[in-house]
Amino acid sequence: CLWVRNLRLKRRLPGPFAWPVVGNAMQLGQMPHITFAKLAKKYGNVYQIRLGCSDIVVLNGDRAIRQALIQHSTEFAGRPNFVSFQAVSGGKSLTFTNYSKQWKMHRKIAQSTIRAFSSGNSQTKKTFEQQIVAEATELVEIFLKLSAHGQYFNPAHELTVAAANVICALCFGKRYGHDDVEFRALLQRVDQFGQTVGAGSLVDVMPWLQSFPNPVRSMFKNFKVLNQEFFGFVHNKVEEHRETFDPEVTRDMSDAIIGEIDKTESENGLTKGHTEGAVSDLIGAGLDTVSTALHWILLLLAKHPEMQSKLHKLIDKVVGRDRLPSVEDRSSLAYLDAFIYETMRFTSFVPVTIPHSTTSDVTIEGLHIPKDTVVFINQWSINHDPLQWKDPHIFDPSRFLDENGSLNRDLTNNVMIFSAGKRRCIGNQIAKVEIFLFFAVLLHQCCFEKSANEDLSLNCSYGLTLKPLDYKITAKLRGQSLICQ
Ligand code: HEM
Repeated sequence: CLWVRNLRLKRRLPGPFAWPVVGNAMQLGQMPHITFAKLAKKYGNVYQIRLGCSDIVVLNGDRAIRQALIQHSTEFAGRPNFVSFQAVSGGKSLTFTNYSKQWKMHRKIAQSTIRAFSSGNSQTKKTFEQQIVAEATELVEIFLKLSAHGQYFNPAHELTVAAANVICALCFGKRYGHDDVEFRALLQRVDQFGQTVGAGSLVDVMPWLQSFPNPVRSMFKNFKVLNQEFFGFVHNKVEEHRETFDPEVTRDMSDAIIGEIDKTESENGLTKGHTEGAVSDLIGAGLDTVSTALHWILLLLAKHPEMQSKLHKLIDKVVGRDRLPSVEDRSSLAYLDAFIYETMRFTSFVPVTIPHSTTSDVTIEGLHIPKDTVVFINQWSINHDPLQWKDPHIFDPSRFLDENGSLNRDLTNNVMIFSAGKRRCIGNQIAKVEIFLFFAVLLHQCCFEKSANEDLSLNCSYGLTLKPLDYKITAKLRGQSLICQ
């Protein structure tokens, strides 16, 4: 009867036994996404864990995740009201706020701004591409200096500055020097951001940890300070833009967003603070992710010299030595694109999306999930599913090429790193262009080598993004350079 059916539907989801107070927090380990995938083998792709005082549903595997994010996109479009989320951009972030009419408008404005600056045949698109090439050429010069007399260097910081410069140029029309002290300090702080908002951050699920001195509380205090500083930096830049705003001339993304939000305040329910919120989101999201991707690419290049020399041969054949690579070369550089997709799949450097929450009751794979449930989406589990990928633990870019050497689009579409559905990343197109151009220019100009006595480790640190542990490489100029005369 209906009553029994409802009872069955509403039964507790499968999942491991949860201890009092902490729940399963101590079982997550250093790499929660791997623990989540292991638990899925025992409890199925949709199960429940308890972290502190929150019941959390974990989704794994292609079928359950796409069913939730695509077929039930509205039901899974929420964000939990975590304390850490409220600290971002004075609560005016579009990334860390719950599903609402206002959020939809906020996201739409950010999305159309990105599109206006990076797609079609616009002059802004050309300027964006030139900006990336200029940053990449500066990176080549810096890497070669750091490699003088065969020295080895850690590329992490320079990659962050380069990625930050691209997004700052888009948002503010201004880049910063690699030695700018204030900018360096700001970027170092952003680095700590992902450790607090990644899935499994303890202060969000055990808010009482804020009430007595402990390491989680001090980390959270730090997190609040870094958010205030970052928001302050963006606010100052946006204010400068407001003072010189001319509705006839859109200089950069800040102007475009001011034009949409500030100038139409009463109509869309958004306030001036949402302008800073959107700009902070674009800078924060565009900086950490792209630099992490490049960080992994350089490591994997140095670790696989045979793949690097195949890439060198290809780029010399397609581009030659008389000019630098451009976006137009992309379709002829399938192996290079395959290397990027394989880096995204293999490292899954955004292993779990930003936590979601359900906006209403919903049923996935026959299991009932109530409204306002926190949901973790394990992207790593899709990219490492042995039923979908042959030898998923092996790094092999050629898996994405078909028998004619072209990119297999069905396979590249199966990689999940930008999420899907209503909360999917809005920067995926510009991210792909950035990663491609940086990678192509660096590769065209340099050869990257690891030291003979160092076996580059694939171990990483966990957070919103997985970052490789510090490593060192050296860069050697390839043939006649177009950059360093
Ligand atoms: C959200 C990945 C680059 C802007 C996200 C999410 C992921 C992601 C996994 C969370 C989706 C979810 O919660 O389901 C990446 C990766 C990037 C990248 C892997 C680079 C390789 C960028 C760039 C920008 C950007 C360059 C903008 C300039 C955003 C924004 C959101 C977001 C605004 C929040 C969307 C929302 O909550 O509605 N991204 N991203 N991302 N990303 Fe990206």
